[in-house]
Amino acid sequence: MIDRDSPNYHQLLEAVLENAYEAIVVTDPDGKILLMNRSYCDFLGVKDVIGRNVTEVIENTRMHVVAETGKPEIAQIQRIQGQDMIANRIPIFQNGKLVAVLGTVTFQDVRQLHALAATVDHLKQELAYYKREFRLKLGAVYHFDQIVGTSPKMLEVKNFAQKVAKSDTTILITGESGTGKELFAHAIHAKSRREMGPFIRVNCAAIPDTLLESELFGYEQGAFTGALQKGKKGKFELADHGTILLDEIGDMPLPLQAKLLRVLQEKEVERVGGIRPIPVDVRVIASTNRDLQKSISEGRFREDLFYRLNVVTLTIPPLRERLEDIPELVSVLLDSLMESTGIIVREIQEDVYDVLRQYTWPGNVRELRNVLERALHVMEGNRLTAKCLMIQTSEKGLPASSRVPTLKESLEFAEREAIAKALAETGGNKLKAAKLLGISKSGFYQKLEKYGFSADK
Ligand SMILES: Nc1ncnc2c1ncn2[C@@H]1O[C@H](COP(=O)(O)OP(=O)(O)OP(=O)(O)O)[C@@H](O)[C@H]1O
Ligand SMILES: [Mg+2]
Repeated sequence: MIDRDSPNYHQLLEAVLENAYEAIVVTDPDGKILLMNRSYCDFLGVKDVIGRNVTEVIENTRMHVVAETGKPEIAQIQRIQGQDMIANRIPIFQNGKLVAVLGTVTFQDVRQLHALAATVDHLKQELAYYKREFRLKLGAVYHFDQIVGTSPKMLEVKNFAQKVAKSDTTILITGESGTGKELFAHAIHAKSRREMGPFIRVNCAAIPDTLLESELFGYEQGAFTGALQKGKKGKFELADHGTILLDEIGDMPLPLQAKLLRVLQEKEVERVGGIRPIPVDVRVIASTNRDLQKSISEGRFREDLFYRLNVVTLTIPPLRERLEDIPELVSVLLDSLMESTGIIVREIQEDVYDVLRQYTWPGNVRELRNVLERALHVMEGNRLTAKCLMIQTSEKGLPASSRVPTLKESLEFAEREAIAKALAETGGNKLKAAKLLGISKSGFYQKLEKYGFSADK
């Protein structure tokens, strides 16, 4: 064993310091370097540093600070020569007096950190991928950049909606039919902190009153005849940690309005036939094209529920109040229609826009899409003209098109419309859509094929 007082002991200590993998520096209380091991000198590319001030030699050092405060700093990140290192700075006291500061900088851990950083990067990429996939499959389909319109009115609602998206407040979206209320609801969810959670839409108008309660709140085993053995989660439970869109809220029956109000207040749901309330964390977006104030005065909508939902109201302007959005809408809608129908428009005659601007658009953007779709089918050549639009631009006037569609065309158009509507109402549920239309499932699938709708389940 080496005697601590022998010169050998001194040599041993020096050898330990020199061979240490860590970079080591020792300064006096004034920050002058007393010692710097080889590892550190090599890393910095310096020599003859003894006696120099540490701040001149080491980037971002705090050795002189620790010399002043006398407080150790452990596992601090210090950037040296473009690399993040882990630094420890320890004051050394003798007889209660600070005599030196020991600094160590670790490379090895940093290398591990780099490896960790690479793993985290990789995981981040995977997460981004799954986020995209997830959004496509389950979450919101539309984002704000897909909501067409740069008119001042549209910009105003879009900006406001983006602002409130981030908070967790309940939102009421009002606006005429086809103005894009559902589009906004999707976009709000996609921009909220719940974006990774589910987005669940319930069309309160499309579900029979008798079923709406169990659809929304679920039911317990054996709650009623025909109920599933195990019971079933309601839409609120399915939307946990996400957003629920209560579409056509104005059509919700009064008794359910009372139950909904309780859910909003208590943040818990009670299944039909259930005994325990189930906590849910859901952001509610409600939408309607009805005048709820009027419904309140007629006793068809609860005033207290209205105020609960109406924390923030987004009013989507009708198309006739933002005619300047028409050219952009036509361009985007035609692109999507050309893709779905395979019919190509090569030229749009200028009078098309004149006619579109003169019309009052009771069905708003949805109607514009339908008008364009119909126009594609009656268009001659690849030239879109005002005639093909077949819309009535004044109350007394004739349809803008002089060509009367054949009865077959009209019937097919009506049939197509009805199918699209049924699919929209049922959120794409083919079985329910067929039921709504009063036709058999197989008949419905034949029609889907005929009109080029997706027949996927
Ligand atoms: N600003 C817009 N940009 C692009 N497409 C739009 C816009 N507004 C509406 N649309 C399209 O119009 C159609 C109707 O939109 P949406 O279903 O959101 O309307 P809505 O207000 O919910 O109507 P309703 O009250 O009848 O349910 C959809 O196909 C939607 O993609
Ligand atoms: Mg809607």
